Amino acid sequence: MIKLQLNNQMNDKVIESYQKDVTRINKMIDEKTGPGNDFLGWVDWPVNYDKEEVERILEDAKYVRDHFDILVVCGIGGSYLGARCALEALNGLKSDDKLEIIFMGQTFSPNYVSQVLKYLEGKNFAINVISKSGTTTETSISFRLLKELLERQVGKEKAKKAIYATTDREKGALKTLCNQEGYATYVLPGNIGGRYSVLTAVGLFPLAAAGIDIKAMLNGAEEARSAYDNDDLKNNICYRYAVTRDYMLRHGKPVEMYVTYEPQMTQISEWLKQLFGESEGKEKKGLFPASATFSTDLHSLGQFVQDGTPLLFETILNVLTPNSDVKIPHDDADLDGLNYLEGKDLAFVNQKAFEGTLKAHVEDGGVPCNVIYIDKLDAKTLGHLFYFFMRACAMSAYLLDINPFNQPGVEIYKKNMFHLLGKKGY
Ligand code: PA5
Repeated sequence: MIKLQLNNQMNDKVIESYQKDVTRINKMIDEKTGPGNDFLGWVDWPVNYDKEEVERILEDAKYVRDHFDILVVCGIGGSYLGARCALEALNGLKSDDKLEIIFMGQTFSPNYVSQVLKYLEGKNFAINVISKSGTTTETSISFRLLKELLERQVGKEKAKKAIYATTDREKGALKTLCNQEGYATYVLPGNIGGRYSVLTAVGLFPLAAAGIDIKAMLNGAEEARSAYDNDDLKNNICYRYAVTRDYMLRHGKPVEMYVTYEPQMTQISEWLKQLFGESEGKEKKGLFPASATFSTDLHSLGQFVQDGTPLLFETILNVLTPNSDVKIPHDDADLDGLNYLEGKDLAFVNQKAFEGTLKAHVEDGGVPCNVIYIDKLDAKTLGHLFYFFMRACAMSAYLLDINPFNQPGVEIYKKNMFHLLGKKGY
């Protein structure tokens, strides 16, 4: 389903030198004995997921599609990026699906929030609020505003039927509210952290509402689980990628730049940045995850990648077959000199841009480039990719002796902000 071509520094000898560590860590992941071991629920999730909940999600999603024009998905971080990136990657940036999906709760921006609220005025919308803790400030403020608008427009009782919540099974402020108000509720399991939750209801409900085949996505993840749940470093591309990241960090390349050639995959890079950044960036260690969308960014960042401070390597996600395409037309005058491309697909041009750039960066720029080849981006392949990266991330963080599942650093800014906002106890 996906193929991995590693950069030219990763010869067999280098990869083999990791075998012992990979065997030890793979066992640690399977037996759940490493740091953060109570957050490994995602490892077997593609086979263990709650089948009844998925059926309920499909039913409710159909109801939302049939009864509303807009679904506002309200969450941040791991409770937001997975659904957003999958939605854009699969449905595109100019989707004409009958249900419009809008994201909110991921920002304090007064401009964004007030614009969305204004846009929703008088419209027929439902809300999917997503928060494991139920107390995340961005999400809570947005939800309060959305709920208030909805109740004002349709009344308190009807609003209850238009609110779908995804949160912890037992605890948290949102769970208490769900119990009180009787909202339809889905579970973010206690043993799965936000950035590893895209294949739970966190991602599945909004994606099903958007008409995406979530069972195919779970199938893809199951397929990835059986392909990568082993320590065979000769064949396991997930761990080959993980050790490459480690090797790059230890050999003068502290930045990994994720590259796509599809604007609708830009949010996948955002998901990757959160997954790897928040999992690994601790104890003054970890690769800095960056991203670029080519060819657009070849006209901005391209210069730096080619000739600037040699601190990065690239991991390129190259989709070979687009979901739609156009042919370049003939022009009698040919003033732009493009008739040599007449009748060619844009996919052909995009691939040649990829090939030419790869050669330039590797041969002239000396930039190590990994390429992940993806035949076609559909729900199944994306499920596979999500699992591939989550497992690679766990391996890669454990290689650095880092707990991949906590985020102690995130709390410090919150404390300062709460103090400045005058929150009790700060
Ligand atoms: O990956 C994580 O754990 C975080 O990004 C959280 O998902 C994010 O902070 C949102 O948290 P919550 O779901 O509790 O609102």
